[in-house]
Amino acid sequence: MLDVFASATQGPLATPPVVRRTDYRPPAWLVPDIALDFDLDPATTRVAARLEVRRNGGHDAPLRLDGAGQTPLAVRVDGQAINDWRIEGEDLVVPLGGDAHVVETEVEIEPDRNTQLMGLYASGGNLCTQCEAEGFRRITFFPDRPDILSRYVVRLSADKSRFPVLLANGDPVASGDLPGGRHWAEWRDPFPKPSYLFALVAGDLAVNRGTFTTRSGREVQLGIWVRAADLPRTDHALHALKLSMAWDERVYGREYDLDVFNIVAVDDFNFGAMENKGLNIFNSRYILADPDTATDYDYDGIAAVVAHEYFHNWSGNRVTCRDWFQLSLKEGFTVYRDQGFSADQGSAAVKRIEDVRGLRAAQFPEDAGPLAHPVRPDEYLEISNFYTATIYNKGAELIRMMATILGPQAFRAATDLYFDRFDGTAATCEDFVLCMEEASGRDLSQFRRWYSQAGTPRIAASIEHQPGGGRATLRLGQHVPATPGQPEKQPMVIPLRLRLFGAETGRPLTDEQLVLLDQPAETIVFEAITERPVLSINRGFSAPVIVESDRSAADLAFLSAHDDDPFARYEAMQQLMLDTMVAGAIEGVADHRPVVSAVLNTLEDAELDYAFMAEVMLLPAESFVGDQLAVVDPEAVHRAREALRRAIGRGLLDSWRHLYDVLQQGPYAYTPEAKGKRRLRGVALGYIAAAGDPEAGALAFRQFEAADNMTDRQSAMTVLANGDFAEREAALDIFYNRYSDNGLVLDKWFQTQALSTRGDTAAVVETLAAHPDFTLANPNRARSLIGAFGANQRAFHAADGRGYRFLADQLIALDRLNPQTAAKLLPPLGRWRRFDEHRGTQMRAELERIVATPGLSKDLFEQASKSLEG
Ligand code: TRP
Ligand code: ZN
Repeated sequence: MLDVFASATQGPLATPPVVRRTDYRPPAWLVPDIALDFDLDPATTRVAARLEVRRNGGHDAPLRLDGAGQTPLAVRVDGQAINDWRIEGEDLVVPLGGDAHVVETEVEIEPDRNTQLMGLYASGGNLCTQCEAEGFRRITFFPDRPDILSRYVVRLSADKSRFPVLLANGDPVASGDLPGGRHWAEWRDPFPKPSYLFALVAGDLAVNRGTFTTRSGREVQLGIWVRAADLPRTDHALHALKLSMAWDERVYGREYDLDVFNIVAVDDFNFGAMENKGLNIFNSRYILADPDTATDYDYDGIAAVVAHEYFHNWSGNRVTCRDWFQLSLKEGFTVYRDQGFSADQGSAAVKRIEDVRGLRAAQFPEDAGPLAHPVRPDEYLEISNFYTATIYNKGAELIRMMATILGPQAFRAATDLYFDRFDGTAATCEDFVLCMEEASGRDLSQFRRWYSQAGTPRIAASIEHQPGGGRATLRLGQHVPATPGQPEKQPMVIPLRLRLFGAETGRPLTDEQLVLLDQPAETIVFEAITERPVLSINRGFSAPVIVESDRSAADLAFLSAHDDDPFARYEAMQQLMLDTMVAGAIEGVADHRPVVSAVLNTLEDAELDYAFMAEVMLLPAESFVGDQLAVVDPEAVHRAREALRRAIGRGLLDSWRHLYDVLQQGPYAYTPEAKGKRRLRGVALGYIAAAGDPEAGALAFRQFEAADNMTDRQSAMTVLANGDFAEREAALDIFYNRYSDNGLVLDKWFQTQALSTRGDTAAVVETLAAHPDFTLANPNRARSLIGAFGANQRAFHAADGRGYRFLADQLIALDRLNPQTAAKLLPPLGRWRRFDEHRGTQMRAELERIVATPGLSKDLFEQASKSLEG
């Protein structure tokens, strides 16, 4: 396998080198200052770099600069052209005699031909950069590693009419005109930063400006830069930015540090957004919103990502990562911070439910499959493959657990200590944990296993009550499953919030307590328990684990109605629904009545807010039901879930109709209450359709046509797209024609069809891949069809294997343009161990076909070859 790859791309002797965490060595040379001069042009851009380098410690190693296949046009040392430089692999090696030198290089790069979207590239006629993780080396020769911090001075020149706006990190210094219709601008960033935070933008952009006065009284100029036509869609992002700046001051004591903060939105982007110092660059889907084109979900996503990138200014930029194995140091912590921000904007309970749902949809399967890796990995071939749900979302759960164990005051003292001690440096996950220990006096030795051991721990919980005796015994056990490269595991420290409720009275029998389970098995005894106790455990999802308990359907129904922890209520209902669907998938029939009556209880609870009700009453996704089975049977899961949906719809049809009518709204407003109503009304419409109500198609179509906002329009279209309604085609056509000039909304059109639960979806997706609006060149569009399809368990796993073939074909084609995005879309194929032999064989055959493809990137090679092994 390795040979195929190597002979195709790197010559017969080369195999992609494994990078190991334990191989870390401090840099041989430092670069305290760098000056860059860009002569910008989409076809050929000339980059001149002036590096002030300093020998780090006593050694006689030459200066080694990372590159990406460029040939230097010139190399000068201390002003003199030299010719004893050499290229080794892709590195530029420069022998240096003294301890401090000025090294200058010049290269030419071709932004127009950059389809990988790493380094300097063109998007929508503008030029922009993406350097994390290792894109800076595609721009100029440099020691492209995060522990080299430099002060940057950047001069940009470009054609003035095509690129009237010239932006870079830091503060603007000077600008002026040049002969030949060109102009220039100079930017200076006073904060030393790693190369992955470098950014520039040149383009024809309009700006939505604002200001923010920091708590020490400095006024910061804010700007959101987009193409002129998009300007009316930028207010929400600007507002979210101001809220984020105030929140970080209030909650973490962190103030912004430059005089300007700019955000630029681009359509072609490999990720959500990038936290470049003072110049964030965003995927336009996380900036642009108005009621007609963005859903409430989109609005929430924009606020969360704006906050995330802004928060990186401290957790990531002021304190950065020593090496890429420490990625979760900035990403896990920053996700934890943005989750806290979003929780404070609306309902904390709903936010927690959404975050856990996301963790279960993306991270749990990763942790259970061939690509499982620890939050602090030990090795990689391509670092881009490690921007994963484990690093980001499980990483955030680790921070949350430490905050839970420490309590809010000690946790804040610990983050203050961390920011103060490591400001201006490149730190490690260990540094962070040491601050947690030092500020709290707690020993987190065993807790550190969360950083090194992959796999989702399983907790067994059962409770026994001596009737009459008053004593209840809770038995807890933990087991961390084997993962690739880690056959044996040590017990973790698992913080479990728990409480007991009386089955008869419904009253709490104990206070909530925090149990730190740190043994393979433990017993906890409760005295004076006067009635049969019902266990509420992992309240608030205090640990990212799977709890296996023997609670009956009646107990789960009871908790879903009586638990005082909102997450635990949601969780009890989810478990009840899951148990019901698992029974249905395995046995072909299930007793739907406990779920139906629990949903009715929720519907009738006048104290619940709309958004929370909606979350509680939604069924778990088919893929999550599949995750509960020893061998996934996608069709059986689909049937079981549809049967339960129908039962809930039919059993409570009058309630759904009533709810649908009373939630009718006046003109659109973006308030928590209005959002909750839209969400719940969408759930009601879904259940009316599930009931098989003959009016459902007309009702959905009416909502689709009358909607004054995208949330209502999309929820109606989704209902229609999932069914057999006469109105289905008309709705999809109307939607397409209405939004054919808006790429972000067209993505929804592709995505809704790719996620359809209908039986013909695999065929429809193949047709859509040939649609004139489909392109692999735009990552959002590729994800909207191919990514969504991979997440559609029923369609992707169509028994004839066409889904697997389709995905492999698309990935092989995409890999030639954009390896990073191709690699991100591969994991569904790697789950072959979870399926029957017939499907598994076909999945493996497609993985083998990918690995055998000549010229494969190391990104896709790593994901596909690990998926075959694991
Ligand atoms: N640091 C970015 C974030 O999480 C992630 C990111 C943006 C990224 N663009 C990327 C990661 C390209 C890898 C490749 O905020
Ligand atoms: Zn991030």
